[in-house]
Amino acid sequence: MIVDLHSHLIPGVDDGAQTLEDSINLARMGQEEGVQHIVLTPHHRNGQFINHKEDVVKFADKLSADYERAGLQVKVYPGQEIRLTQQFMDDYYNGDLLSLDGSDKYYLIEFPTAKVPEFAHKILSQLIDMGITPLIAHPERNHQLAENYDDLYDLIEMGCLSQITSSSYVGLYGEKFQRTAREMIELNLVHVIASDVHHVDFRPFNMKAAFNQLEKDFDSAKVNYFLQNARDIFNGDPIEKLEPIRSKSKRKKKKRFFGLF
Ligand SMILES: [Fe+2]
Repeated sequence: MIVDLHSHLIPGVDDGAQTLEDSINLARMGQEEGVQHIVLTPHHRNGQFINHKEDVVKFADKLSADYERAGLQVKVYPGQEIRLTQQFMDDYYNGDLLSLDGSDKYYLIEFPTAKVPEFAHKILSQLIDMGITPLIAHPERNHQLAENYDDLYDLIEMGCLSQITSSSYVGLYGEKFQRTAREMIELNLVHVIASDVHHVDFRPFNMKAAFNQLEKDFDSAKVNYFLQNARDIFNGDPIEKLEPIRSKSKRKKKKRFFGLF
């Protein structure tokens, strides 16, 4: 059973599917790849889109009924991809944030593309102290984390998890993202593979392709690790975490050194 924890399938609420027809076509694509459960994670507070909890729940109910009418078996659930802003804890306490699981243990959190904000550690450690696990969306696309794997290592050590995007890992977005995703997996800095699906051609599911690639680059144990982690998170259960490894790459160290001046 494949659980996809990151998707943009609610029509017209962000830069994902724009019409119900797009959304149904995408969901069918996922279903054909073996995806059975999908968490709907529209962008929230990314500077462009705001999707309040109440609205997402309503849209998810409607989409669920629309999929059923269209004869799809795949099931969808409300969630959010939440940009980490200074407002995060206020939104949390105001009950405006959606988790990835029924028991509110895991939240999908996105950093700005360029870097990890200064205030990130404070908010993330506050969440971890409360028994909440932040799942960091696509670290391979964050410039700081892609340059310094040890910065991602530190976040994992403090108790965060991370999710890479299937299409990055299979090379759809270019060799650089693919290499970064693979190296992050090698260092046990990744816990989830999800689609972050937006569009049939440009940002498709690629879940099956990603698991095939994993089997090729690693082994079937690695495939099972990622499949099981997504199920555990979806169920609100703790995951079995592989021990993260600090990067020994000279390239990374050199960049880190020069970054001091
Ligand atoms: Fe996303």
